[in-house]
Amino acid sequence: MIFVLGATGKVGRALVPALLDAGAAVRALTRDPAKARLDPRAEVVRGDLDTADLPALLDGADRVFVLTQGDTAGRESAVARAAARAGVTHLVKLSTTGVHFGQTDPITRAHAEAEQAVREAGPAWTILRPGAFMDNRFAWLGTIREENAVYVPEGDPASALVHVRDIAAVATLALTTSGHEGATYELTGGEALTTEEQVAVLSEAIGRPVEYVEEPESAARERMVRQFGWPAEAVDGFFALKRESGAHEHVVFDTVERLLGRPPLTFAAWARDNASAYHHHE
Ligand SMILES: NC(=O)c1ccc[n+]([C@@H]2O[C@H](COP(=O)([O-])OP(=O)(O)OC[C@H]3O[C@@H](n4cnc5c(N)ncnc54)[C@H](OP(=O)(O)O)[C@@H]3O)[C@@H](O)[C@H]2O)c1
Repeated sequence: MIFVLGATGKVGRALVPALLDAGAAVRALTRDPAKARLDPRAEVVRGDLDTADLPALLDGADRVFVLTQGDTAGRESAVARAAARAGVTHLVKLSTTGVHFGQTDPITRAHAEAEQAVREAGPAWTILRPGAFMDNRFAWLGTIREENAVYVPEGDPASALVHVRDIAAVATLALTTSGHEGATYELTGGEALTTEEQVAVLSEAIGRPVEYVEEPESAARERMVRQFGWPAEAVDGFFALKRESGAHEHVVFDTVERLLGRPPLTFAAWARDNASAYHHHE
């Protein structure tokens, strides 16, 4: 059985059905099973990583998909150690390309520390280091629906955004087939697009014009607090990471194609899949 952390998140929502389709038994963690809408074929367990009884959650697990938000280093170190004690044989950790590039912002440093804990815990390990997700562009939903506009912080870099289904497909390989033990994989899409190009692709998929507006960082910060309800601390963390990731978000790795034997999914495909979410009055 494979124990999946972050099962209701961006990657987790793609991973749980992919593992089930590959014939694996899945135990999915969420803090709120009533809201989780998880695949009915999965065993759903309730737990908050800050308070959970890890030995109980891990009981009977052969492999673990390790993904957390927030206190990544603390939570993932605890999970890795508990997994080793529970007899888990393989840990697959979701990290970030920032570690490959040696970024020193707090989110990336926490991932570097968590990677180390996973490598040292005892079970076999595989580290997945995706770059920025296409799904991050759901942040544009509100202003596209309401104003047919996208507001982007000045200097936002071109990015080789990766589709979460590609991350999930690679994670499924690592969790259900052998040969990925001790491997570290950087994962990106196949091409870097500027944010202006991304907006044009999305506009085409939605079928109506969307205005592209650059705004100063101060206005972007205010928007995140006001519109997304982010705590000021999370906004600081985001901009600290972006300041360092900006220089290499355009870098394309061929890992997805090498591992999956097909090109990575494109932003145009993502936009077509998700266009209906951007229509008015839904
Ligand atoms: N977004 C990107 O572009 C990007 C790029 C590279 C790496 N990453 C990394 O990907 C990871 C996930 O980030 P994300 O933004 O995509 O988030 P996400 O996976 O969409 O959402 C977070 C998930 O964690 C679970 N969770 C949160 N707090 C929890 C707790 N205390 N106990 C148990 N489960 C908890 C949530 O489950 P419930 O709410 O159901 O409990 C949810 O499934 C992070 O480590 C991030 O650094 C993100």
